Amino acid sequence: MRLLVLGTGVMAKNQLRHFAHMDGVEVVGAVDTDPDRLKLFADEFGIEKRFLTLNDAIAWGDFDAATNVTPDRIHHPTTMALIAAGKHVLCEKPLAENYPKALEMTEAAEAAGVVNMVNLTYRNVAPLQRAREMVLAGELGTIKHVEASYLQSWLVSRAWGDWRTESTWLWRLSTGHGSNGVLGDVGIHILDFAAYGAATDIDHVFARLKTFNKAPGGQIGEYLLDANDSFTMSVDFANGALGVIHATRWATGHLNELKLRIYGERGSLEVIHRPNGSQLRGCLGENIESATWRDIEVAPVPTNYQRFAKAVMSGVQPDPNFRHAANLQKVIDLAMITERERRELKV
Ligand SMILES: NC(=O)c1ccc[n+]([C@@H]2O[C@H](COP(=O)([O-])OP(=O)(O)OC[C@H]3O[C@@H](n4cnc5c(N)ncnc54)[C@H](O)[C@@H]3O)[C@@H](O)[C@H]2O)c1
Repeated sequence: MRLLVLGTGVMAKNQLRHFAHMDGVEVVGAVDTDPDRLKLFADEFGIEKRFLTLNDAIAWGDFDAATNVTPDRIHHPTTMALIAAGKHVLCEKPLAENYPKALEMTEAAEAAGVVNMVNLTYRNVAPLQRAREMVLAGELGTIKHVEASYLQSWLVSRAWGDWRTESTWLWRLSTGHGSNGVLGDVGIHILDFAAYGAATDIDHVFARLKTFNKAPGGQIGEYLLDANDSFTMSVDFANGALGVIHATRWATGHLNELKLRIYGERGSLEVIHRPNGSQLRGCLGENIESATWRDIEVAPVPTNYQRFAKAVMSGVQPDPNFRHAANLQKVIDLAMITERERRELKV
């Protein structure tokens, strides 16, 4: 697979750590509107072809697939252009800033027959995959209750850099720069984590969102800091279970932690993912009488990057595809309406 990297920021570097050493994958070009970032990135990864616009890269055309690692609001126009050029696309999450755009991208990709995948990174967490298998195998019995949280602390810490001065964080705080806040940014991860792990879909949603004041006048330079920082959500799942899902950038002491608890009639599971590793624990069988939890061994799983490359080489559509991400985007759009209208909505 000849791969083009579109956008050469923080996440592109993360992706290249995987793609750069993968059998059958050659990273042949990079695009960024910022010439300095483009040069640093392309030099670091030894990429020969460099472009300041996607149009120039498409005019060159000597690539099979692209990984779209641009800011959220750039995903739609650039992915539509890649699809029109017949290229396979791995698009960063969220697929778009809203459901209508995400659906348009989905329909265009399906009509063109290109491989389309969204980088819901936490599918790479082996304990999540194992939890889903156990749910599907009926090991927990009927699922009644689900709890999921995504905790970050970058608004109270400098562990990842300074959000007050760095554009990579500032655009995430501003709706005018295409961000739907923590809900649009990592909300899609935790909605997927909860629904995929519990092997069901969200079918009703009610959410509360909050934007805390972070700077004088709520503004830093060109960035109006109006995107939400915290959300809480109550959901109904299609399998009948009830759930609570929440996320915040104010979780002091938690750099990046996803947690999922699935409670069934015959057993329960807990998945925890932190920067230093992940874990699956269960309370199953006789142990439910004494509430004894045990670690569950988990085998490694292929990453999204490996599965995307395999899909491009085999032509078999991978999961999670654009349609799945568009459906999650619909939940996010509805959640924002529920905040305004203070009532539950059906997905
Ligand atoms: N899957 C994950 O876990 C995960 C984690 C972090 C970020 N992300 C997603 O990755 C995407 C990028 O995030 P980031 O942290 O790397 O942001 P970033 O701001 O560090 O990098 C984005 C890059 O895109 C470039 N760019 C902007 N417009 C462009 C255009 N029209 N054409 C080409 N390049 C353009 C910018 O100059 C910048 O270098 C976002 O959608 C974000 O939500 C996903």
